[in-house]
Amino acid sequence: MHTFEEKKFNIPELKGISKKNIEEHLKLYAGYVKHANLIQEHITELSKDSEKYAYELGEINRRFGFEFCGMRNHEYYFSALESGAKNLSDKSELKKAIEKEWGSFDGWLARFKAVALTRGIGWAILSKDTETGRLLTHWVDEQHLGHLVSTTPVLALDMWEHSFVADYQPSGKKKYVEDFFANLNWEVIESNFAKAQ
Ligand SMILES: [Fe+2]
Repeated sequence: MHTFEEKKFNIPELKGISKKNIEEHLKLYAGYVKHANLIQEHITELSKDSEKYAYELGEINRRFGFEFCGMRNHEYYFSALESGAKNLSDKSELKKAIEKEWGSFDGWLARFKAVALTRGIGWAILSKDTETGRLLTHWVDEQHLGHLVSTTPVLALDMWEHSFVADYQPSGKKKYVEDFFANLNWEVIESNFAKAQ
């Protein structure tokens, strides 16, 4: 049976976000990988008698989206913090696409940061619609509710409290968002954009 592999990330010292918080956060990521695999195992097992286990199968099939998206969201998040902060080049295709969609990079950034401050737990996402090539900025509740069909994430910002409360306190959400962008390796985001087909 195929299993999902836990990825390893080489995250340097970050502005504002402590090493300890990243370590703890990576353990939560590992939990999503483990549970995405476990659910697949359970589905295989219960499917041997799908009539008897119809209710259980229904529940864990629903649950799979939560675990799988939790795994992938965190991979986008942590990989974007690898190798130190790097700016988005003015010549980059991603920058041009952002300017085309929202008029200016700063206009988009303000909009994305506002999405990140949505009340509740979830993710602020920049994704590319592979049907039209357009970029979209949107909110995902929990890990999975609000991912848009036919889009591929390009940038994912974790807005669950576990990602910032230890360093910033609940009231420091805004500062965490600022620091996330100060730490961001835009070369990774650019590469995500290029790969999103
Ligand atoms: Fe998280």
